Formats: sequence, C-alpha cells, structure tokens
Amino acid sequence: MITAMPDTEAYPKTVMLRDETRVVSIRPMQAGDKVHLLDFFKRIPEEERFYLKENVTSPEVISAWTGNIDFGRVIPIVALDGDRIVADATLHRSRTAARRHVGEIRVVVDPDYREVGLGRRLIRELLDTASELGLHRVTFELVAGQEEPAINAARSVGFKTVAVLPERIRDFRGNNQDLVLMDLSLGDRNQWWY
Ligand SMILES: CC(C)(COP(=O)(O)OP(=O)(O)OC[C@H]1O[C@@H](n2cnc3c(N)ncnc32)[C@H](O)[C@@H]1OP(=O)(O)O)[C@@H](O)C(=O)NCCC(=O)NCCS
Repeated sequence: MITAMPDTEAYPKTVMLRDETRVVSIRPMQAGDKVHLLDFFKRIPEEERFYLKENVTSPEVISAWTGNIDFGRVIPIVALDGDRIVADATLHRSRTAARRHVGEIRVVVDPDYREVGLGRRLIRELLDTASELGLHRVTFELVAGQEEPAINAARSVGFKTVAVLPERIRDFRGNNQDLVLMDLSLGDRNQWWY
C-alpha cells in the first residue's frame, strides 16, 4: 500500500544555510530524482559511503528507491541547490505492529555543504515528520570513530547514546569498530528545535 507523505503542502521549504550565502530547497524525494541522486552519492567520499547501509552508487539501488517511493516504509527528503541534490535524509519505519512506533534516521550531506547547519535541519525535519506520524522513539545507528560528525549532529538535537555494540562494524582498514545506538523519545518538538 502506498501511503502519503504527511504535511506535503508544507514543501518545498526554502532554507538559508548558516554561511548566509546559499539557499537550498527541501522537499520529499521524487521519481525523477534518480540521476541527480546518483550524482550526489558519487560525490560522497568512498570511506564514508563504506559505512552506509546500502550501496548508494549502484544505479539499481537508486532506481529501486526512486521507483518505489512508499512513504509508509521510508520517508526520504532531499535538499537541492538548483538541480543539484546536496543532501539526502531518510526516516525508516517497520511495517510490523510491534515496531511501528519506532523509526530510524539516516542522513548524508554533500561535502561542499557541510558544517552550515543542513544535516541538523534535515534531522529536525524528519523528527517533525516522525512526531506527526505518531512515532514514539527514533534511533540512529552510527560507527564510533568513523561517523563522529553524525554522532555530534544527533547529540546536538537531543539524541542520547543508549548502547554501544562492541566491534559490530569492520572498518575501511579491516579493524573492528563499535556501533553506537542513539535514541530520542519524541515529545514536545521544542526538544529538537531549540
Ligand atoms: C553527519 C553529517 C550529515 C552532518 O551534516 P552537516 O550538515 O555538516 O551538519 P551540521 O552543519 O548541521 O552540524 C550539526 C552538528 O553536527 C556536529 N558536526 C558537524 N560536522 C562536524 C564535524 N566535522 N566534526 C564534529 N562535529 C560535527 C556539530 O555538533 C554540529 O553542531 P554545531 O554546528 O552547532 O557545531 C555529515 O557530516 C555527513 O554527511 N557525513 C557522512 C555521512 C554520515 O556519516 N552519515 C551518518 C550515517 S546515517
């Protein structure tokens, strides 16, 4: 069943980045984003892509994403500077009743658009969406020592580390790294906006 994205009329949203020289537009992913999304992921350094949960430079993977958008399962939003996709963030949901109240967020920002508040803005957008959908908790799964910017970004909106799973990830060089599980309980939205 294809489920609608909540609050679609709120998009696109225009966002001024913190450097005050660039403006991006945020909206849900669309079927026509395939080529630009693939170009975006090719600009992400290989050693960062290595830890993502899917092979994002595979045209088949990206086609499957853009060709089967089902907001009941994954809510994908993108940020654009003109035609160029400069960030992608997703809220993943389970279909089963036992896990339907929790979600997982993933986020990637173009290296040229980092450290100006875009990653945090997209996390906040998805927390709003999760809250509107009635979710109770949202998690992040991040790799210690390799994804520290993401760990800090999640912490900066209120996520707390609730578990560290030792040596769960094999890193780029073949060494084992811990997986950090971060969690946020969705209450008042002031929690993540301020
Ligand atoms: C993690 C990521 C999305 C952050 O995006 P971003 O747009 O640069 O982040 P923001 O500018 O919104 O920064 C938000 C907070 O994150 C932290 N942060 C961001 N970049 C950081 C860095 N290089 N080092 C340390 N902390 C960093 C800071 O706490 C920052 O808050 P501040 O601006 O008040 O200092 C980006 O670095 C990225 O795409 N990394 C590769 C992909 C990845 O690891 N994704 C997580 C897996 S799901």
